[in-house]
Amino acid sequence: MSDSYLIKGVSVVGGKPTDLLVRDGVVAEVGPGLRAAGAAVVDGDGLVALPGLVDLHTHLREPGREDAETVESGSRAAALGGYTAVCAMANTSPVADTAGVVEQVWRLGREAGLVDVQPIGAVTVGLAGEHLAELGAMADSTATVRMFSDDGHCVADPRLMRRALEYVKAFGGVIAQHAEEPRLTEGAQMHEGEVSTRLGLTGWPAVAEEAIIARDVLLAEHVGSRLHVCHTSTAGSVAVLRHAKARGVAVTAEVTPHHLLLTDELVGGGPAGGPYDPVYKVNPPLRTAADVAALRAALAEGVIDAVATDHAPHAVEDKECEWAYARPGMLGLETALSVVLDVLGPEWDLIAERMSRTPARIAGLAEHGHDPAPGRPATFTLVDPAARRRVEPSELASRSRNTPYAGLELPGRIVATFLRGEPTVLDGKAVR
Ligand code: DOR
Ligand code: ZN
Repeated sequence: MSDSYLIKGVSVVGGKPTDLLVRDGVVAEVGPGLRAAGAAVVDGDGLVALPGLVDLHTHLREPGREDAETVESGSRAAALGGYTAVCAMANTSPVADTAGVVEQVWRLGREAGLVDVQPIGAVTVGLAGEHLAELGAMADSTATVRMFSDDGHCVADPRLMRRALEYVKAFGGVIAQHAEEPRLTEGAQMHEGEVSTRLGLTGWPAVAEEAIIARDVLLAEHVGSRLHVCHTSTAGSVAVLRHAKARGVAVTAEVTPHHLLLTDELVGGGPAGGPYDPVYKVNPPLRTAADVAALRAALAEGVIDAVATDHAPHAVEDKECEWAYARPGMLGLETALSVVLDVLGPEWDLIAERMSRTPARIAGLAEHGHDPAPGRPATFTLVDPAARRRVEPSELASRSRNTPYAGLELPGRIVATFLRGEPTVLDGKAVR
């Protein structure tokens, strides 16, 4: 592997074509007509350089379900998707609710060396929603956890949620809530609406999400702490967030690529086949076209701060079964940029903001989220916006195959990804 790279004629976040010289882990120079003896030359003609993407919400499944994903396979999928950092959700087995488990995940991430893996700690012991986990010990560990989440489960008890928000204030932490009032979603199988009625499936009403977000922004305001809302999925949630932000509440929110593109109609039959295809089962569920429109507008406006994948790999037996028994979740890392490009168009500055700069800030990853500029870590990705690709599940680096985009043609291709000056992806292929 070369120790310096000269990228010729690349557009940095949509700007005029220029050259980038990468040396000793940093961007050494930016400007037209650069020369560098001994540097490996990368043809950047037609490519856009973005700050390395940062995912606030990734399920890596290790420890516990290494058949579905490992830290290494998930890291490779992330790098191929243009990511340089991912925040690993805590719902592993054992749960990441101790310093020992978050340190293990952090170490596995370092060993894989393809992206920075930042563990998220559980809020409650075993995600059981009864007792606070050892948040302080996880914060003080070598994993330096700052974000905590029971994702997959809601921290439903308002007193526990309050205490968690208070606790993390001491070290500038944030609670990332999976907003789902469990009493309103008992037995729920899909979004509650016309389609669920037609299909005879128990509905997951929008209000189950909106009620928790409304409660939690008030709690965050009351205790003066930071709240992050995972996978925002409804127009009503956007209205609550807009109101909270106008009041100055320290709340941020993410939306997934699938909630920006897909609707509940797919459960009644999609391109992949007939009705009840579990590839479309996800939590929160796919919503209506009106929700999708509201989420897109909120993302453009900034009421929703970030795109996060909720990459949720599942083994074949957990997905290719009867709808009611299938696990919720979809792959996301290797398709996110393409979906967002499809939804927002080539709005490079907005894409850099929502997929890199802002998520890096929310997660406290100071080394990430910087446009390539002299002296900055060479941590960026090169996108070919003119390329189109048909999503082929067997070609994905993830150990799982549960992509809802199979067969779909999407714009954009990741050509290369650099992490601190080292390529993790070159010519569209993982370097290892
Ligand atoms: O669809 C989902 N899958 N939603 C979650 O909240 C959890 C995730 C998973 O872990 O599979
Ligand atoms: Zn979740």
